[in-house]
Amino acid sequence: MRKRLSLSALLGAAVLAVSTVASTGAAAAAPEEAAAPSNHGGTQLTDVLPAPVEVKPDERSRFWLTPLSRIRTQPGSKEAKQVGDYLAGLLRPATGYPLKVSSAPSWAPGISLLLGGADPRIGDQGYQLDSNLAGVTIRANSAAGLFNGAQSLRQLFGTKIEADTPQRTAWSVPGGRIVDYPRFGYRGAFLDLARHFHTPDEIRAYIDHVAQYKINYLHLHLTDDQGWRIQIDSWPKLTTVGGGPGTGVDGVGAGYLTKADYAALNKYAAERQITIVPEIDMPGHTNAAQSTYAELNCDGIAPPPRTDIEVGYSSLCIDSELTYKFVEDVIREVAAMTPGPYIHIGGDEAHATTDEDFKKFMERVIPMAAKYGKKPFGWHEIAKANSPATTTPQYWWSTPDGDAAVAEAVKRGSKVLVSPANKAYLDMKYDENTKLGLKWAGYIEAKTAYDWDPGTFVPGVPESSVLGVEAPLWSETLRNINDIEFMAFPRLTAIAELGWSPRAKHNWENYRDRVAKQGPRWTLQGIDFYRSPQIEWK
Ligand code: ACM
Repeated sequence: MRKRLSLSALLGAAVLAVSTVASTGAAAAAPEEAAAPSNHGGTQLTDVLPAPVEVKPDERSRFWLTPLSRIRTQPGSKEAKQVGDYLAGLLRPATGYPLKVSSAPSWAPGISLLLGGADPRIGDQGYQLDSNLAGVTIRANSAAGLFNGAQSLRQLFGTKIEADTPQRTAWSVPGGRIVDYPRFGYRGAFLDLARHFHTPDEIRAYIDHVAQYKINYLHLHLTDDQGWRIQIDSWPKLTTVGGGPGTGVDGVGAGYLTKADYAALNKYAAERQITIVPEIDMPGHTNAAQSTYAELNCDGIAPPPRTDIEVGYSSLCIDSELTYKFVEDVIREVAAMTPGPYIHIGGDEAHATTDEDFKKFMERVIPMAAKYGKKPFGWHEIAKANSPATTTPQYWWSTPDGDAAVAEAVKRGSKVLVSPANKAYLDMKYDENTKLGLKWAGYIEAKTAYDWDPGTFVPGVPESSVLGVEAPLWSETLRNINDIEFMAFPRLTAIAELGWSPRAKHNWENYRDRVAKQGPRWTLQGIDFYRSPQIEWK
């Protein structure tokens, strides 16, 4: 929890800044910086992570935030006001400044979040940021673009802006212009609630962590052999039994999201421009459901609950009509509680289902997503079922050979989400000494996570057919938010940069130096990151 600033701290800071501006003028405010240690530590426009498309520094100029600065948002736009409130919430604790948010113009140099009037290249998620003595102006075509610009601005204030109490320092932003927009529209993070349940507070913390790197989707793996983690009213024992005491790997990952929890998470994510993608894995990875409801098994006998980490042994009963009633009930309820456009229906590692049965199953289930207003996602095996163009296969294998069915799906018009296990799986160990994680796809050090190209990784999937990139983080070995943070940071930022930055900006040495500067920021944010020896941490 960040602490609220005290009135005396606020007044003290205000008096200091007013006297500085009055006696020297804003243009010469730098002496205040000399009196206090620099907050920005020499932060440059080029330090932003993920690397922006175009950066034009102006060494002669700089923006100084003062206690009189306000955040001005586009008149008439509730969304812009929401981004302004979010940005003020980020900047208030460390600055101690009031940072009033309103659409009214202000005479004091401040921050403006405006819609329209930007470089035409920015599209619907990009932004243009101009910084000079008169203020910082972020222009975008959407709230998402303003939010992305606000995250860049946050980084440009320097590390100390992450402190949760007022700092005695001057706050400034280097002068110049950034024009920035993403390479791919989808940049995903992922949490596995099935193997170990993660609480809503932990999920919110991860949302905050990843949002600062312009991640815009969060895929939640809600069901698996070891646990069922989302309330379904028509099959109530899924959570009370399938997600109840003793579930999860080693029997220590119990818990589930109520519909109210899930609604609150969707709202929290949306305020951070993140869309939640719920996953109900099927026809395999279903032991939690089948051990709860005996009638979901072909022989009518419920198998025992499983708390080990084997895969590929469970399958819904493909020739039973009750299976499709169950699946439709679940898809209907999950679709109804999900504001985002997607529902993920799994499909991976269905080794206990024949190919013929897999096709039969998916040909009935894929259309259920559309019936309830959603676009289906699946792990890339879904392409075997002649999936329609509206389906997005998520490629997860490591092999350089690709998959013929995925290449065929692309020919039919599908876009592919790229998540190769040997590059993007954040649950793989960094090296042989990593205590957490698995190693079936290999060790993934920071450079391995960074040095690949989602635009060319999967044979038969050209860049134009890549929807984006996602970083799965499976929870077989993870218990809590510290474990999540240790496995995700710094590698999550590699995946974020691969998804956002243009290929022409791809450069390990440059990325490594920018990541190094994030270390102190993560320390202030309480993120327990892995100090990769490949990075010279600041
Ligand atoms: C997966 O790793 N089974 C998608």
